[in-house]
Amino acid sequence: MTAWPHLRGIAYGGDYNPEQWPPETWLEDARLMQEAGVTVVSVGIFSWALLEPEPGRFELDWLAGVMDLLHEHGIAVDLATGTASPPPWLSHQHPELLPVRADGARLWPGGRQAWCPSSPVFRERATSLATTMAERFANHPALVMWHVSNELGGHNAHCYCDVSAASFRGWLQRRYGDLGALNDAWGTAFWSQHYSAWEEILPPRIAPTFPNPTQQLDFARFSSDELLDHFRAERDVLHRLSPGVPVTTNFMVMKHVRDMDYFAWGPEQDLVSNDHYLDASDPRGHVELAFSADLTRGVAGGQPWFLMEHSPSAVNWQPRNLAKAPGQLRRNSLQHVAHGADAVCFFQWRASRAGAEKYHSGLVPHAGTDTKVWREVVELGRTLEAIGEVAGSMSRADVAMLVDWSARWAAELDSHPTVDLAYLDQPHALYGALWDAGIAVDMVHADADLSGYRLVLTPTLYLTTDATAASIASYVEHGGHVLVTYWSGIVDENDHVRLGGYPGAFRELLGVRTEEFFPLRPSERVHLDDGSTADQWTELLRLEGAQAVASYVDGPLVGVPAITRHAFGEGTAWYVATRLDADATSRLMSRLATEAGVAPVVKTVPGVEVTRRHGAAASYLFVLNHTDGVVHVPAEGVDLVTGAGVRGKITLEAGDIAVIREGGG
Ligand code: GAL
Repeated sequence: MTAWPHLRGIAYGGDYNPEQWPPETWLEDARLMQEAGVTVVSVGIFSWALLEPEPGRFELDWLAGVMDLLHEHGIAVDLATGTASPPPWLSHQHPELLPVRADGARLWPGGRQAWCPSSPVFRERATSLATTMAERFANHPALVMWHVSNELGGHNAHCYCDVSAASFRGWLQRRYGDLGALNDAWGTAFWSQHYSAWEEILPPRIAPTFPNPTQQLDFARFSSDELLDHFRAERDVLHRLSPGVPVTTNFMVMKHVRDMDYFAWGPEQDLVSNDHYLDASDPRGHVELAFSADLTRGVAGGQPWFLMEHSPSAVNWQPRNLAKAPGQLRRNSLQHVAHGADAVCFFQWRASRAGAEKYHSGLVPHAGTDTKVWREVVELGRTLEAIGEVAGSMSRADVAMLVDWSARWAAELDSHPTVDLAYLDQPHALYGALWDAGIAVDMVHADADLSGYRLVLTPTLYLTTDATAASIASYVEHGGHVLVTYWSGIVDENDHVRLGGYPGAFRELLGVRTEEFFPLRPSERVHLDDGSTADQWTELLRLEGAQAVASYVDGPLVGVPAITRHAFGEGTAWYVATRLDADATSRLMSRLATEAGVAPVVKTVPGVEVTRRHGAAASYLFVLNHTDGVVHVPAEGVDLVTGAGVRGKITLEAGDIAVIREGGG
């Protein structure tokens, strides 16, 4: 990451869609933004049809007027290239750029993002708009950063059309060089799938039965690369015509989004930005928020990142769109900052009156400013202003969790031992246990340098390359502690099983050998001799150097070890071969933390989250009370939110937050 926009303190704002409102409203908007303490807004994201109403005829004056007005009111602009959603004329003239599903159906325009990532026509038109935007606005005084497209891959990550097929073949030729290598990698000796010519190769379209798994995996990799390539094309225009202004595109590091390999995308950004939406049905949504925020920080290489979107209150796209409780808007926002965000932005500034998102909350609600949401928006502005000095500070953790998108894609392919294997299940379970214990985690790519960590978690790393396996083994050999969970180390990068017993990549490290998987029935639960229960997954495992920590007392594998521990070199390698219940996971994680010498940030009560960010001159303790009661947390320093001195402990009301500049004085 090379650049942060010229914005003071913690940036504050949101998506602003002035084209949905008459110009009289724009002035009111700018005044209200000032009242709320907004410092930056994202403009033009869905404006293509109004910026270029006919091919090659641009109407940019209205946007220039909006930018002038914002600038006069001291509001900076994160300017979109405007390419997220093509105008109707484009697909009318070029229906071939509409995306095609795996079943061959072409999707229609009328929603948004209806474009094929491989379409040369779309690429040409989008970079032309980006060029026009950069030529007109590069020197506008309000401009502080560029926002390429929007949530690339949100609705159109995979296109199966003939143009995409040709591009996929090009990608495969670059990856494999010759057809023999591809035939080996895809295991085409199976089911008579051997290819004799490149032209025979297609995307994994709907077939009579399971398509080739490596073809599916490579198509997932290709699709992420293809959109990243689109990002680069727009970014390069901006770098050329608007040098020195940082460029980003907003990621979707969220539980339900899996199509972009953000560890590959992160280094291509001048700064990483992310969108996060809570799942309103999840009572532990705040833990998922922390997970996503930490993963975003990992994708950003540990640097501060930009929260581009979250919701002031309800969204419009879940089955039941629950409004946020009083105080939640601020607590959610501060939680992102606690995990490394230096910007708090929302979708969107003013709630729409028309269109599919009219019931999505905005910072300015339909009901106006005499509202709970608006009062909280103004309060948040004051809070962010008060804690501005935390900008630029960083976090560090003693625990690393390894994450890999190829492992995720491969782990969730079809025809596996059970449909219950979901990649994120164990990462969330382990993270949740550490969150409850107040222990900080860095989420890093599976090939990251692990030497600085006391404990490394390797959940569901189904696909493991030789290099990753070697790096983890060497980390343990030199004294590290590692935990590997089931469905890890099973296949290589081509999704070929590692032979000789599971988990092939980690057998020696873990000192175990699994002969056969024994997945469980949907409601089946097994018991372990340490009192734990488990479900979904068991393995016929043999010890080959490891010790049994806990074994099954019932189920199909009575007496077989379920949790093992192996001294390896100067370190220790643990294996969990079943899906433990939440209490058992917590007990295991606290034992591991103790053995590895990992401590909570601050010892406190369940439901109270404490993180620390380190700045050049001071460190900052974030305390977030997610409980319904008053809590007392040990701390020393000054609460930046209230300005009050903190001596020995801070008392927080239910749902309240504090940011403490630490120090005794
Ligand atoms: C995001 C998107 C926004 C808006 C928002 C609603 O995914 O970037 O444009 O649609 O969701 O929650």
